[in-house]
Amino acid sequence: MRIVRTVDELRAWSRANRKECKTIGLVPTMGALHAGHASLIRAARERCDAVAVSIFVNPTQFGPNEDFAKYPRTFDADCALAASLGAEVVFAPAVEELYPEGAETFVDVEGLSGRLDGASRPGHFRGVATVVSKLFIAAEADLAFFGQKDAAQVAVLRRMTKDLRLATEIVVCPIVREVDGLALSSRNIYLTAPQRHQALALSRAIGVVESLVGHGQRNVPTLIEAVEAVFGAEPDVRVDYIVCVDWATLEPVEAATQGTLFAVAAWVGETRLIDNTIIG
Ligand code: PAF
Repeated sequence: MRIVRTVDELRAWSRANRKECKTIGLVPTMGALHAGHASLIRAARERCDAVAVSIFVNPTQFGPNEDFAKYPRTFDADCALAASLGAEVVFAPAVEELYPEGAETFVDVEGLSGRLDGASRPGHFRGVATVVSKLFIAAEADLAFFGQKDAAQVAVLRRMTKDLRLATEIVVCPIVREVDGLALSSRNIYLTAPQRHQALALSRAIGVVESLVGHGQRNVPTLIEAVEAVFGAEPDVRVDYIVCVDWATLEPVEAATQGTLFAVAAWVGETRLIDNTIIG
C-alpha cells in the first residue's frame, strides 16, 4: 500500500487505474480508524477494483472551541488497518496541500448546513462540504463510502454532489455498534468509564424508537416523548437534539414514514455524540 501526500499523486493513481478500466472507491476519513471505518473500507473493496482511504483531520470543520488539536491521531495504526483491508493508497495530505495559502473558495450547502449538527456547530458542514468536494475532485472516484451514523453529513453531501453534478456516487453503510449498542465513533475514546455507561442512553433511545416503530407507532410526538423519557433517566447526559426529519431536507416531518431519519445528539461530559435510525 502506498502513502501519497499530494493531490497530483492521488489523481495520477486514480487515472492510471481508470486507464485499466478499474473502478475507483474512496473512503474519506479523519483517521483514528475503528471497526466502523473498517466496514467502509470492506464495502469499498467489495464494490470497487481500487480503493483509496483519505486520512485528513480537516481544520475547517472544527469550531474555535472544538477538539481539532486533541482529535485522536493514530496514523501508523490507521495505515496498517487500511493495508490489511486491501486499500491500495492512503491519501494523507498536509493542511497546505488541501488549503493552499490564500485559499478563499468554500462549498456551502445553504439551508441544510444549518440544520441538526449544523445548528449547534456553525460552519461545521461548510468545512465538511469543502473538504469532501476537494477529495472528490482529487480522487476522481466512482464511489465514495460514508457511515449512516453521520446521517446529516450524508444529507449535506448528497445535496452537494447533486448540486455540483459531481461524478462520484455516495454509498451509505450501516452504523457499526459495540456489543452493548454504543455506536462506534473516534470520539468514544474521550469517555471515562462512567461516561461510557451514560452514553448508552443514545443507543437505548434509538432502540426504543425502533421497537415502537416495529409495533406500528408512527406518531412523531409519541416517539420523541419516549426518547425524552430515556434521556430523562440519565440526567448527566445533556440532549442537543431529538428529531424526526426528512433525510433529504433535514426538515421535521409529521409522521415517521419509510426512509425518515430519527436522530439524536447529546453531550456526555465534554463529548458530543450522535446516533440515529432510518425508519423502515
Ligand atoms: O466523517 C468524517 O470523518 C469527516 O467529516 C469527513 C467526511 C472525512 C470529512 O472530513
